[in-house]
Amino acid sequence: MSRLRAEHLYKVFGRRPKAAVAALEGGTSRDELRSQGTTAAVIDASFSVEAGQIFVVMGLSGSGKSTLLRMLNGLLEPTAGQVLYDGQDLTQLSPRELRKVRSQKISMVFQHFALFPHRSVLENAAYGLEVQGLPRAAREKRAMEALEMAGLAGWEKSWPDELSGGMQQRVGLARALATDADLLLMDESFSALDPLIRRDMQDQLLELQKRLKKTIVFITHDLNEAMRLGDQIAMMRDGQIVQTGNAQDILVTPANEYVASFTQDVDRSRVLTAGAIMAEPASVRTAAADGGAPRTAREVLAAAPATVMADTPIIELFAPCSTSSEPVAVVDEAGELIGVVPAARLLAVLGDPTRSTEPRAVPPGPELRKGSETSETSPANPANTVNTASPANKSSKTNTASTASTASTASTANTAAIGKGAGDPAGAANDGTAEGKVTAGA
Ligand SMILES: Nc1ncnc2c1ncn2[C@@H]1O[C@H](COP(=O)(O)OP(=O)(O)OP(=O)(O)O)[C@@H](O)[C@H]1O
Ligand SMILES: [Mg+2]
Repeated sequence: MSRLRAEHLYKVFGRRPKAAVAALEGGTSRDELRSQGTTAAVIDASFSVEAGQIFVVMGLSGSGKSTLLRMLNGLLEPTAGQVLYDGQDLTQLSPRELRKVRSQKISMVFQHFALFPHRSVLENAAYGLEVQGLPRAAREKRAMEALEMAGLAGWEKSWPDELSGGMQQRVGLARALATDADLLLMDESFSALDPLIRRDMQDQLLELQKRLKKTIVFITHDLNEAMRLGDQIAMMRDGQIVQTGNAQDILVTPANEYVASFTQDVDRSRVLTAGAIMAEPASVRTAAADGGAPRTAREVLAAAPATVMADTPIIELFAPCSTSSEPVAVVDEAGELIGVVPAARLLAVLGDPTRSTEPRAVPPGPELRKGSETSETSPANPANTVNTASPANKSSKTNTASTASTASTASTANTAAIGKGAGDPAGAANDGTAEGKVTAGA
């Protein structure tokens, strides 16, 4: 069961909000409502977050992210819909019950640090525990542990204004960690930090998350941050969630032009993995003159310029692909062939994703169809898989690539892969390095 679920959530600001929800359900547009002075901030948002996941909500300013987040902890009452936390409907709780859930189970970390200037770092970190009514000794002990986790050991007696912005944000994080709340809601928590510090904080959060396995909803308007942190990413536009998926879903099968335009500047070579773009092993065939039959797994493996795992970032495939006309082999942990990446496919996925308005099963591109290769490449659509070697549909990654907006379960491996790519000091997390450079250089 998912830890947190939002079901058909709406938040309308202005007059007659319930009537506005009915109008939205009947097809009235957000703009029409706005012309009547009513703001539909969140429209029919549904999603679920599994325990231990980082669920990122991403969208431009005004798209409804903060409003959505505030409904998740009951700070804002939804106009319609439900928020289920551990199966309990938060929208049905009394104010008192809600306060209890909020102080014990849910923590929020804001963009601006919200520290008390006249309290020490330790007292600030212990604040949530004070609200919970914990005795001083117990809360100081827990706050010390949380400060240590946030990398602030030794700073507990300092005052907030003695700390840099990044360190102040760590105090905010420590405060959230100290309460032991399982659900962390983070609203643009790193957005005020300069890029390098921000990267550090992202790394630290991923590191902490490995140990603590909290359930985190993280809001950002930065796609690279979303891709680094998110096991799942919900893309919001004008109050609506237009796509939910992992980083690879969003990159490989954007639900529409809007999502695709967001992803233009992402360095795909570091986010995408071999497993997400591989073709079926059976697509590797002998030359037409020799009958054009599928090669055996053994032949493919023997000829491959490199053998990689499904979670290898595709940036590592360029060198081998440039030295051979044979595809790179993708194997599972047992060493069995599960897919192949021909050079043409590698180049195709770096192509312009905005060409298609339809969600698609495979990264297309005329490159794939020009037939300049002797070996044919066929779509990684598992439905078409008829081969006796290891079918590509064993891989959840390949499945992922074929589902436009279904929640994927391949999250852990993805996060690892993304973390690896983006953790590279030469990576392009926030510096806007465009895929164009990679394409040009490839
Ligand atoms: N209390 C309110 N009363 C009226 N309108 C509101 C209120 N809060 C938010 N809105 C409107 O709802 C819409 C969504 O706002 P929200 O703050 O959720 O967006 P956001 O995605 O968090 O934006 P940002 O990235 O700028 O923080 C906006 O049009 C905003 O003006
Ligand atoms: Mg906001």
